[in-house]
Amino acid sequence: MDFKLEIAQLLQEVTQLSKQEIVDAIEIPPNKEMGDFAYPCFRLAKQFRKAPPLIAQQLSEKIEKPNFVEEIKVQGAYLNFFVKKAFFAQEVLQEVLLKKENYGKSTVGEGKTIVIDYSSPNIAKPFHVGHLRSTVIGNALYHIFEKLGYVCQGVNHLGDWGTQFGKLIVAYKKWGSQQAVEESGIQELMRIYVKFHDEAEKAPELEEEARGWFVKMQNGEKEALSLWKWFYDISIKEFDRVYDMLGVHFDAYTGESFYNDKMDAVVEELKQKNLLKQSEGAMIVDLEEEKMPPCLIIRKDGGTLYATRDITAALYRKKTYDFHKCIYLTALDQNLHFAQWFAVIKKMGYDWWQDLIHVPFGLVSLDNGKLSTRHGNVVLMEELLHQAIEETRKIIEEKNPDLPNKEEVAKKVGIGAVIFNDLYNSRIKDVVFSWERMLNFDGETGPYVQYTHARACSILRKGQCSLPEQIDYANLTDEASMEVLKLLGQFPEKIQEAADKLEPFVVTRHLVNLSQAFNKFYHDNSILNSQEPIKQARIALVIAVKMVLAEGLAILGIQAPEQM
Ligand code: ARG
Repeated sequence: MDFKLEIAQLLQEVTQLSKQEIVDAIEIPPNKEMGDFAYPCFRLAKQFRKAPPLIAQQLSEKIEKPNFVEEIKVQGAYLNFFVKKAFFAQEVLQEVLLKKENYGKSTVGEGKTIVIDYSSPNIAKPFHVGHLRSTVIGNALYHIFEKLGYVCQGVNHLGDWGTQFGKLIVAYKKWGSQQAVEESGIQELMRIYVKFHDEAEKAPELEEEARGWFVKMQNGEKEALSLWKWFYDISIKEFDRVYDMLGVHFDAYTGESFYNDKMDAVVEELKQKNLLKQSEGAMIVDLEEEKMPPCLIIRKDGGTLYATRDITAALYRKKTYDFHKCIYLTALDQNLHFAQWFAVIKKMGYDWWQDLIHVPFGLVSLDNGKLSTRHGNVVLMEELLHQAIEETRKIIEEKNPDLPNKEEVAKKVGIGAVIFNDLYNSRIKDVVFSWERMLNFDGETGPYVQYTHARACSILRKGQCSLPEQIDYANLTDEASMEVLKLLGQFPEKIQEAADKLEPFVVTRHLVNLSQAFNKFYHDNSILNSQEPIKQARIALVIAVKMVLAEGLAILGIQAPEQM
């Protein structure tokens, strides 16, 4: 039963508003004295030509109390609805226990595809903490949309093409060796790439040579391509290790190189549509009208650019997936890039340009150098994840040395902590890495939520509990139980809200609130030692909390160990 909808039904007849308008206006009051749902009458003042408190009063007299409502109270300009507690408990619990991991699933997205372009690291460069955010946020949004019934296509738009590979080939031929690359992988590629830049300052002709190699790549010459492919394979192998640790999967690894043979047609189309202009030997799309710098399409030397590939990729994706939305996750500093090429798509006459959405996020900063690594100032993802596991292992060793599967649990908790930390705030905020804070089992952290889930599991294990056949919901009307139920009941709308705002933190925070409420319930009430039928009702609540916490964590891309 959707309480908001029921209330809207009731108010619809007396306000002449649409159901949706009323549903959108209904609030969940911050404290219990104000009821379970509140309808503010401010917006009705114009229509009724009366003061909002008076409107509230008159509406309350006109509507008939439905059977699920205990009381309707007027407080100021608000109509406050107090739902019958046992009724509410039954509605929420039955729904969770019936649907299990499908609780919160919806069909709003049915038949619609969402393409999510995330992670997208650059070949031959390290997967650094900056890419972590794109990966983790993208993965969470993937699960959020999936839960709402959308078909998701996770695309890894690898940075695997461009002039930098010409430089890398020159660098490899001059200062590299097969053995060193095989031994140290991306580290070694990075070393020779940096060396190229140092050397090219003294010897600019190196740049010319690099361009030559890139031209060879573009022309499909064998040696150039096989070196490129080698760098590619080495990089993917390293990236996949990180994805494995994070539990992230992609539906397509269509990186920039995938569009090599598709860009000519797009450039031709831009020409046909009279959008290409010569400028200092390059080809641009002018964006003066849009008050932006021009979008560079073809370089002076004939090379294509990042934007050329993004435009081509968008056209390809529209054709291939016929997406409802195509979402791009990158740091905030790429705002202009996306705004520019979205504008090009609009100028090409495609009205779906409005379905392209750049979802930017803030930076990652490190807790005063504690994370500094041997590798200078790039912090490598893999190393960071290993460090998270290591730190967690220490805590487990101290708190629960007899835990079975310590290694497995340390992995789930350590990596979960990193993911949770990244998803805890609005995307645009910078993320700070502080092991102490992230791994605090009592803080607003991943381990705290996981620990709460494990606590629920442990209660059920100890009591050898199974799902009660009969539940007397009147036993769940105490304050602590009601708070848990309220949060359980809100889970589906929180997922929808996270999708609407493209903000996984809505789910993250909700899980913290649910954990806190559950721990208070656990503290206030005895469970296994209580009398029947109270005991069965409380066990049912514990089972529901366990399910929702596990599912919520899964949506965020975090595992939920049963013991920790
Ligand atoms: N490879 C790029 C980077 O590391 C991110 C690519 C994002 N996706 C896109 N379609 N432009 O900055």
